[in-house]
Amino acid sequence: MQNVVVFGGAGFVGSHLVEALLKQDKNITVVDDFSNGSQNNLSAVSDKIKIIKFDIVNKDWSSLMDLKPDVIFHLATHPRSFSLQDPIKNADVNVIGMINVLDFAKKKNSKLIYTSNSGICGDPQFLPVTEEHPIDCKTPYDANKLIGEHYAKIYQKIYGLYITIFRLATVYGERQIVNEELGWRPIIPNLVKKLEQNETPIINWDGEQTRDLIYVKDVADCLIKGSESNDQNGEMFLLSTNKETSVNEALRVISEVTGKNIAPTYTEKNPGDIRRMVLSYEKAKKAFGYSPRVSLKEGVTRYVNWYRSAKR
Ligand SMILES: NC(=O)c1ccc[n+]([C@@H]2O[C@H](COP(=O)([O-])OP(=O)(O)OC[C@H]3O[C@@H](n4cnc5c(N)ncnc54)[C@H](O)[C@@H]3O)[C@@H](O)[C@H]2O)c1
Repeated sequence: MQNVVVFGGAGFVGSHLVEALLKQDKNITVVDDFSNGSQNNLSAVSDKIKIIKFDIVNKDWSSLMDLKPDVIFHLATHPRSFSLQDPIKNADVNVIGMINVLDFAKKKNSKLIYTSNSGICGDPQFLPVTEEHPIDCKTPYDANKLIGEHYAKIYQKIYGLYITIFRLATVYGERQIVNEELGWRPIIPNLVKKLEQNETPIINWDGEQTRDLIYVKDVADCLIKGSESNDQNGEMFLLSTNKETSVNEALRVISEVTGKNIAPTYTEKNPGDIRRMVLSYEKAKKAFGYSPRVSLKEGVTRYVNWYRSAKR
């Protein structure tokens, strides 16, 4: 049975990835410091996996040295939202932590799948954005994720590690929650939470800014396809839907699904916010046969059902 380690596996995307991996009968270890993830995210699968609480910034990795991963998924991250307030913490996790994960992969001779962020392209110069789009980092998080990509390529070229990078669009789905402590207010959870609490939704900027909203299980499936391929060493892929949705439109869909209609209040733009986002997934389609399966309305419906259930 293949051994898999998921760094950041107790987080939002990571926990869906773990569930999808389990369907394929993998031997899974989650490594997470639980700074933004939770045991609760893994409650449905915790008896089938090994969970290690560990901070990837640590210098001493001896507690992980018994692991023998064939594949490592590196999803652990310090979030974008807080990176302007604490760029050093963000660099610690997203750069030093990345180097530590790469050193671990090198020692273990593991294949590495790294999740980066499409936001590093900044305001698009052309649409849809492709893998060739120029970079224009808007926040320390963007810069640190980009540095992570550079390190991945260095380790791939110098040490012969097998590495594939995925730059994700804006991911949403069950278990994604607002984390006020980290200033993390993802679009769909934030709007759903407000409407479900019968409060006025707050939208930064005028709501006409757009995002490419991708459902989390579509992401998990493609990351696994990436890990199964042996032909994409050193390649980078955008993972997206190639659909552009404004925040106002997302609110409209959420209102329709929840049956709650409350006019939003518009406030100032978040620092580093980009105006438009829509990304091509042609390269991932060619390489892995990927295409998104879950529409925004279906994904929002699943999210609202989850939100209303007792699982939160
Ligand atoms: N969610 C999105 O919209 C989105 C968009 C683009 C890229 N990504 C990328 O996808 C990946 C997963 O994102 P997510 O939304 O699931 O985030 P998340 O915050 O839910 O998950 C990250 C996990 O990493 C853990 N973590 C943080 N610091 C750690 C440390 N020092 N040591 C060990 N674990 C640590 C957190 O506890 C959390 O469980 C990240 O690499 C992120 O950059 C996400």
